[in-house]
Amino acid sequence: MAMISSITTLRPSIPLILITSFLLLSSPLLVTSEDPYVFVDWVVTYSQISPYGVQKQVIMINDQFPGPLLNTTTNDNVFVNVHNQLSEPFLLTWNGVQMRKNSWNDGVEGTNCPIAPGKNWTYSFQMKDQIGSFFYFPSFGFQKAAGGYGPIRINNREVIPIPFDQPEGDFDVLIGDWYNSDYKELRSSLDDGVKLPSPDGVLINGLPQYKANFTFQPGATYRLRISNVGLKATLNFQIQGHKLLLIETEGSYTIQQYYDTLDIHVGQSYSVLVTADQPEIATYYMVAKSRFSDGDIPVTGIAFVHYSGSNGQPVGSLPQSPCSNDYTYSMKQALSIRRNLTAGAARPNPQGSYHYERINITRTIILKNGAALISNITHYTVNDVSFVYPDTPLKLADYYHIPDVFTLNGIPDIPDGRVPVFGTPVIDALYKDFVQIVFQNNQPIIQTWHLDGYSFFVVGMDGGNWDASKKKGYNMMDAVSRSTIEVYPFSWTAVLVPLDNLGMWNIRSQDEEKRYLGQEVYMRVRGVDTSVLPNPRDENPIPSSIIKCGRAAN
Ligand SMILES: *[C@@H]1O[C@H](CO)[C@@H](O)[C@H](O)[C@H]1NC(C)=O
Ligand SMILES: *[C@@H]1O[C@H](CO)[C@@H](O)[C@H](O)[C@H]1NC(C)=O
Ligand SMILES: *[C@@H]1O[C@H](CO)[C@@H](O)[C@H](O)[C@H]1NC(C)=O
Ligand SMILES: *[C@@H]1O[C@H](CO)[C@@H](O)[C@H](O)[C@H]1NC(C)=O
Ligand SMILES: *[C@@H]1O[C@H](CO)[C@@H](O)[C@H](O)[C@H]1NC(C)=O
Ligand SMILES: *[C@@H]1O[C@H](CO)[C@@H](O)[C@H](O)[C@H]1NC(C)=O
Repeated sequence: MAMISSITTLRPSIPLILITSFLLLSSPLLVTSEDPYVFVDWVVTYSQISPYGVQKQVIMINDQFPGPLLNTTTNDNVFVNVHNQLSEPFLLTWNGVQMRKNSWNDGVEGTNCPIAPGKNWTYSFQMKDQIGSFFYFPSFGFQKAAGGYGPIRINNREVIPIPFDQPEGDFDVLIGDWYNSDYKELRSSLDDGVKLPSPDGVLINGLPQYKANFTFQPGATYRLRISNVGLKATLNFQIQGHKLLLIETEGSYTIQQYYDTLDIHVGQSYSVLVTADQPEIATYYMVAKSRFSDGDIPVTGIAFVHYSGSNGQPVGSLPQSPCSNDYTYSMKQALSIRRNLTAGAARPNPQGSYHYERINITRTIILKNGAALISNITHYTVNDVSFVYPDTPLKLADYYHIPDVFTLNGIPDIPDGRVPVFGTPVIDALYKDFVQIVFQNNQPIIQTWHLDGYSFFVVGMDGGNWDASKKKGYNMMDAVSRSTIEVYPFSWTAVLVPLDNLGMWNIRSQDEEKRYLGQEVYMRVRGVDTSVLPNPRDENPIPSSIIKCGRAAN
C-alpha cells in the first residue's frame, strides 16, 4: 500500500501507526492509495432534552445533538466506527453520498443488518467524485424522530477552485420539524394506524426558537449549508433583510441566483452565500417556517444572526413567509434552479462536460405514490405496493442467492391499477441503462423522493399527469443534478439517471411517516450475467466484517 498522502484530515489524537495497521487489516481494495482518509469514532447514546417544554429522549452522537460534522474532501476514504449504546438496533445512512460501488455500506435496512445494542461496526466508503453538502440520519425504526442526525461536507480538492470567492466561513444549518412525543410512542402509534401528529415546533441545529446564534463579521460573506432533517414538513428558509445567493444543491454547483426565501423540502440540502451587508450593526432573524402542511398548524423555527458587536434583539417584526399553500411560487422556484455548466466540481473538467441530453433513454419507470387501507391500517404505496422489510437485507439475500426474500420486478414499470398489497419489490435494472424515472403524485399533499447511490438530472416538473409528450418541455441543457426532489400535489417530476453504480439502492419517500408505512422500493443495478460476481473494479467485494442476520446469519 502506498504511503498516506495526506494526514491533515486525521484527528490528531489517533497515532499514525494505529491507522496504518487498521487500513492494512481492512479490505485494501476499498482504499484508493492516492486518496487521503478520515477516521472517526462515534458513540451513539440516549439523552434527555426539552426544547419545547417537554422532556424527550434524543439520540446523541459523541454527546452531541445534532451529531458531529463529517468533514471530508472529494475522494477521501472515510471510516466511521459506530458504537451502538442504545437499547435497540441502530443504522445510519448517508443521505446524498453516492457510496460508489459500495451499497454494502449504505446503511439502510435493505442493504445492512442493523448494529445490535452494545456492538459496533465500521462503515467504510469513499467520497468518490463528489462535492457538496449532505447529512446522515438513523434509518431504522423511526429513530429519526429522536435526532441522531448530523451534517456532512464534501469539500473541493485544492486543485479545483470553487466557483465563488472563498467565504469567510461555513455554517452547517440543520432545520427540521420536531415532535414532543417519544419516538417509540410515535412508532407504535403508527403501527396501530394513528397518523403522525402535527409537529410541535422546528429545531435549528437542535435548538428551539430564539436559542441558536450565528455570528457574522460586518461585510463578510458566509456559506450556509442547509439541510431539512425533519420528518415531513417543507420549511421555507430566510434571513431578515438578507438575500440568499444559491450556489449548490446536493453536490451540483448552481447558476448563482438571489432568492429572498428558499423552500427546502424534507431530506433536501442547499448551500447559499449570505453577505452581512446591512447598514445596521444589529441582530437579524433567521426563520424556517413550515409550508404545505397538510392540515397541520404551521410551526416556525427562529434563530439569531448577530453582526459581531451586537447582542441585542432584532429590530422590526419577523419577516413574512410566503403564503402557506402557494404551490405555483414554489414550483417556479424549483424550475429556476439550474446547474452551472462551466464550474468545476469533483473533477477538473466542468460539470457540463457530461452530456445527458445526448444519451438515449433505455427504460421509463413511472412511480406513483398512493395510500390504501391494507389490514385495516392506512399504508403508503408505490405503484400500489406497500413495502415490507423481510428479516434478511435484500443485498445479502441477493449475494448469497437466498430465495423468496424479495420479488424481482415486483412492481410494474407503469402503474397498472392493481389492488394495493404488501410486498418486497426490487426493480431489476441493468448497469449502463439510462433510465427516466417519473414521480407521479395524484394526492393532495406534497411528496419528496430520494434515490440512494446516485444523483439524477431533474429535467421537468408540472401539474397533471405525465405522458411521453412532456419530454418536449424537458430542460435538456442545464438541469440540476441532485438526489432528493419534491413532487407537488397532482403533479409529476421527471428525472434522468445513468445507471453507472452497481448495487442495491433504496428509492424512498423522504417523508419518514410514509416511508415507515411502506412508501419505498429498491432498485438492483446489476451486470448482464448475475451468475458471476462483479469485477471488483465495478463493485466492491462484500466487506469481511459485514453483519449477518435473518436467513443470511449462517
Ligand atoms: C474541514 O476540512 C477542511 C479541509 O481539510 C479544513 O480546511 C476545514 O477547516 C475543516 N473544517 C472543520 C469545521 O473542521
Ligand atoms: C469495533 O471497535 C473496535 C475499537 O473500538 C475496533 O477495533 C473494531 O474493529 C470495531 N469492530 C468493527 C466490526 O468495526
Ligand atoms: C443565543 O442568544 C440568545 C439571546 O441573544 C440567548 O438567549 C441564547 O442563550 C443564545 N444561545 C446560545 C446557544 O448561546
Ligand atoms: C459559473 O461558474 C464559474 C466558474 O467556473 C463562475 O465564474 C461563474 O460566475 C458561474 N456562473 C454563474 C452564473 O453562477
Ligand atoms: C439513439 O437513438 C437513435 C435513434 O434510434 C440512434 O440513431 C442513435 O444512434 C442513438 N444514439 C446513441 C448514442 O445510442
Ligand atoms: C377491520 O375493521 C372492521 C371495522 O372496524 C372490523 O369489523 C374488522 O374485523 C377489521 N378487520 C381486521 C382484519 O382487523
